[in-house]
Amino acid sequence: MEKTTLTEKGIAEFNVEEIRRNFPILSTKAHGKPLVYLDNAASSQKPQVVIQKLVDYYSSLNANIHRGVHYLSQKASQEFDDVRVKVQEFINAASEREIVFVRGTTEAINLVASSFGRKNLNAGDEVLISAMEHHSNIVPWQMICEERKAVLKVIPMNDRGEISLDEYASLLSSKTKIVSIVHTSNSLGTVNPVKEMIRLAHAKNIPVLVDAAQGIVHTVIDVQDLDCDFLAFSGHKMLGPTGVGILYGKEKQLEDMPPYQGGGEMISSVSFEKTTYNEIPFKFEAGTPNIADVIALGTAVDYYKSIDRNAAFEYEHYLMTECSRLLAEIPGVRLIGTASNKASVVSFVIDNVNAMDAGMYLDTMGIAVRTGQHCTAPVMQQFCIPGTIRASFMFYNTIEEVHALIEGVKKAIKLLK
Ligand code: ALA
Repeated sequence: MEKTTLTEKGIAEFNVEEIRRNFPILSTKAHGKPLVYLDNAASSQKPQVVIQKLVDYYSSLNANIHRGVHYLSQKASQEFDDVRVKVQEFINAASEREIVFVRGTTEAINLVASSFGRKNLNAGDEVLISAMEHHSNIVPWQMICEERKAVLKVIPMNDRGEISLDEYASLLSSKTKIVSIVHTSNSLGTVNPVKEMIRLAHAKNIPVLVDAAQGIVHTVIDVQDLDCDFLAFSGHKMLGPTGVGILYGKEKQLEDMPPYQGGGEMISSVSFEKTTYNEIPFKFEAGTPNIADVIALGTAVDYYKSIDRNAAFEYEHYLMTECSRLLAEIPGVRLIGTASNKASVVSFVIDNVNAMDAGMYLDTMGIAVRTGQHCTAPVMQQFCIPGTIRASFMFYNTIEEVHALIEGVKKAIKLLK
């Protein structure tokens, strides 16, 4: 593999040391060693402004929203509602009505599978996913397919972890009722050609859900440009708190879908004889929402807006390609996932070394990686491996941290082989 260098523009526009000062946890120690946090695909770290926002919310703003005439409730409602607009702008949705607050990507996909599926899937209909999906984009569809007697079809991938557009196109038929595809694979790093996949599906009037849990973190996503029908992502992977995520849905799709859960807020009127439902997006937001975390997610969006995202993504790409290149030079290391279009994730196995043992050894050096199946068991089955060691990067990581991982892997091989 060729050595990669960050372009001059990237270097000029990206000051990682300044960025790192915004993330207090990065100066912490693990087992007495400086923390090298390379488990960002599992969850990102949080800038101080996001942490502070949570403290401020509970210190001076806490109240239930959309339910009180009093000062605190009005103020909290306003801050909460403002985040919907921030998220709308962040992904360039046409309307704030298209932004539904959920717990995370998993809940967003479950919502669509359950609600869209109950309305639109009948016996013999097909749902199309890919071979590299996270369990959260497999199991909800299996559940609804079983209930509706529909069929789950899988777009195959090659040994580099890429899907072929021709094979994909050949699977689209009049039976296909929805395509649900991952934007960026969490275990392989593959960035799928989702825009083209959406175009091909729409040519047959098939709606498309994009799982952007990783994609939103490493790409600027414009839902109108992509033309996806649904987009799902989580707050905690994009510098925000856990327990909050977004389902974007085109207005027409959300209008046509029945509610997902019943309760307060999602109703317009209730009597024992009949209940009518609220308008979108509230129809899908039963119960008291995760107010504090939504508001802090808004601060994470503000943080993203405050940095040059394109420079950050270019920098992350540089870390990922350098890491891949250096790992590939180590005898006995095999990269898993070598797609030509990749983002931020480097998965690998070491001959005769158990991935979890390697992960535990790296941990003793302060290096945090994830090991195992990464909630993508079918991917591991295709590669005939029990799991991988995965390093995943954010724009606050450094090239020195990449080098620390490489040294750690070399030592692990000596010790564990
Ligand atoms: N989906 C998360 C990961 O890839 C948890 O680690």
